[in-house]
Amino acid sequence: AMNIRIASASGFCFGVKRALDLTLEAKNAPGGAVTYGELIHNRDVVRKLESEGVSVIDSLKDGAGKTVVIRSHGVPKSFHDEAEALGIKTVDGTCPFVKKIHRLVDGFSRDGSPVMIVGTATHPEVIGIAGWCHGPVYVVDSLETLEAWETQHLSADGHFNQPLILVAQTTIRLALWTSIYKRLSEHTAHLVAHNTICKATSERQTSAETLSAEVDCMLVVGGPHSSNTKKLYEICKKNCEKTYFIESAADLQMINLLNCDNIGITAGASTPDWVIDDILNQLKKISNS
Ligand code: F3S
Repeated sequence: AMNIRIASASGFCFGVKRALDLTLEAKNAPGGAVTYGELIHNRDVVRKLESEGVSVIDSLKDGAGKTVVIRSHGVPKSFHDEAEALGIKTVDGTCPFVKKIHRLVDGFSRDGSPVMIVGTATHPEVIGIAGWCHGPVYVVDSLETLEAWETQHLSADGHFNQPLILVAQTTIRLALWTSIYKRLSEHTAHLVAHNTICKATSERQTSAETLSAEVDCMLVVGGPHSSNTKKLYEICKKNCEKTYFIESAADLQMINLLNCDNIGITAGASTPDWVIDDILNQLKKISNS
């Protein structure tokens, strides 16, 4: 008998699931729906949405007459203003955890106080957060960038004298956050730090780690280029010799599941539930044959 267990935190996080649900709901609105940017970087998902009539737009103007869904990363405030000016209807799929960051920086910087974001300047989430700030915005992605910032912004006696709020892009590593925070707090008198790292990633990793220690074989499902799936694979491989990285149910035929009574499954952040369902069905067929 084959016993299959799925990691408690696996696949899409809460915010992405929510944005996908909102999109599927919006597609029935008059004029149909489009998403501003790819809802998630997964070809399967983009194709499935397209087959349901939901295409991707890169310019707000292309959404005229339709409902434009904002993805979980969020957008700058100017996007909402522009949509309103153009009379374009939007559905806000911004993850509530990201929305909270928008509110924090919006409130703190009302008087023009500066904001520092730990993250990647070109990431859509960071662009969105920056777009809710009223004063200067500094983005740092390493201690080196912070050092460069210091040489430009610290006073002669090595201090930053303005109030400063520090927030994090939700997906950065805790170690990066901690090192930036520590260094910054040494010379900033009025630092307000909010660790806004989302727990979805670490919860996915912890539950994969736990499950992989309890099974004979572990299937890690995700796209070959997904870095968070690769990380899950590494974590599971340490606990379970028979850990396999697969993209879809078709890959199961390359795996010898003989003597695997207990199978564990986990999936990367961009893997939709229907891929897991396919795999479960395929495993059922294998165990019945
Ligand atoms: Fe997902 Fe929202 Fe966290 S989109 S990774 S639950 S911040």
